[in-house]
Amino acid sequence: MNGPDIRTELPGPTGAAILDELNRVLYPGLAKDLGPFVIRRKDGSWIEDVDGNVFLDLISGMASVPLGAANKRVMGPAVEALRMTGLEDAHFYAHEYMLPLAEQLLAVTPEGLTRVDIALNGTEAVETMIRFARRATGRPIVIGFMGGYHGEAGTAGAVGAETSDLSAGYRALMPGFVHVPYPNPYRTPFEARAGGTGDGTVDFIRDHLLFHAVEPAEVAAIVIEPVLGSGGCVAPPPVFWTALAELCEEFGILLAVDEVKSGYGRSGAMFAVQRWGVRPDLMALGKAMGGGVLPIGAVLGTERAMGFDDLSTGSTWSWFPASCAAALETLAIFREEPVLDNVLALEAVGAVALGRLQERFLEVGDGRSIGCFQAIELVTDRVTKERDPDRQHALAERLAARGILADSSTTSLNLQPSLVLPPETLASAYEVVEEELAAVGGQP
Ligand SMILES: Cc1ncc(COP(=O)(O)O)c(C=O)c1O
Repeated sequence: MNGPDIRTELPGPTGAAILDELNRVLYPGLAKDLGPFVIRRKDGSWIEDVDGNVFLDLISGMASVPLGAANKRVMGPAVEALRMTGLEDAHFYAHEYMLPLAEQLLAVTPEGLTRVDIALNGTEAVETMIRFARRATGRPIVIGFMGGYHGEAGTAGAVGAETSDLSAGYRALMPGFVHVPYPNPYRTPFEARAGGTGDGTVDFIRDHLLFHAVEPAEVAAIVIEPVLGSGGCVAPPPVFWTALAELCEEFGILLAVDEVKSGYGRSGAMFAVQRWGVRPDLMALGKAMGGGVLPIGAVLGTERAMGFDDLSTGSTWSWFPASCAAALETLAIFREEPVLDNVLALEAVGAVALGRLQERFLEVGDGRSIGCFQAIELVTDRVTKERDPDRQHALAERLAARGILADSSTTSLNLQPSLVLPPETLASAYEVVEEELAAVGGQP
């Protein structure tokens, strides 16, 4: 399959008819967010819809498809495992994929992590990680970050704070979570103070949050995405990590990283914490772990965080044998193929293109390229930095009409290519972004 190749208005007639019917039967809150086409098949970074339109996929199943769609190498062992085993509930009987997968995960993740627990997906991994933190410390409070996303509901929803509407209806029912602005170099309200920790956000946690509002001895964990994903592809400054590690050490707080989106190469390192030399106590995995073929998640932890046996965890389909086979093959691909080199090449393409857009258009307040986390943040004014979601959504719509799919999140337009996309394809996509940015009123 090759493209982009757009033959109809969006949606095309066949897609429009299906979407109309879906509108009739689906939960309206789901139906209203569906994109303007219906997928027939996917191949690598290309998506074909039921009307024959072909799109370049720069969303990658919300970063769950790292190696191109329906990757044949991952698919082979997964299908074989499906034939051999079907389902086994990995809480009752071990199957033979479990040991190699647990061992290989421990081999590629940061030193100090010695235990693995099984999960079905990212949401379950995050929820379990928080339960481990509370059980390990005997403390109730969890600090999360404004802008962070960790899943839709329950504990994962409560530790997240991407936008306030996401937690409407249950924020007040979920005590034990407090939030601090994410250490976003473009938008942080903080400055490091003289004689402080070296980082403004950690100064705030130490001097204000833990001094006035939250007793440090009651804090179980600080939960953070090492690269803010849905919230806009943001990496904290390196000094943040040093200061945060010192703070955690001082107060016995566990550092729990959510690598559900940043893990498996998207940051340019196998795990984002490795890019900045961070040593977490707990780590949640999901999304790309199954190679874009099957769902799977995991929690990894130190002996302090997970070396006990009285917390009941997991669910029936966690570490489904076929998902484990897909996860093992995914790890093999990362070992054997130059995936991370390609991610860094894509990062370089993004950095150049975003630099050009920032120079040309005053509306591009910030452009960020961290591996295959790339984002354009549109503002109405570079000084006030007021966000411009309307122009951003209009840009995303025009890009879709040109056959390029990007994630217009609440805070930025996120481009998350597959990690194996040829860099020249991304460069061409940025040329279309530039043309369409001019068309939606970007001022030269
Ligand atoms: C950082 C992060 N954590 C957790 C989740 C939840 O993962 P899932 O929706 O696959 O369960 C997501 C999903 O987008 C995520 O981006």
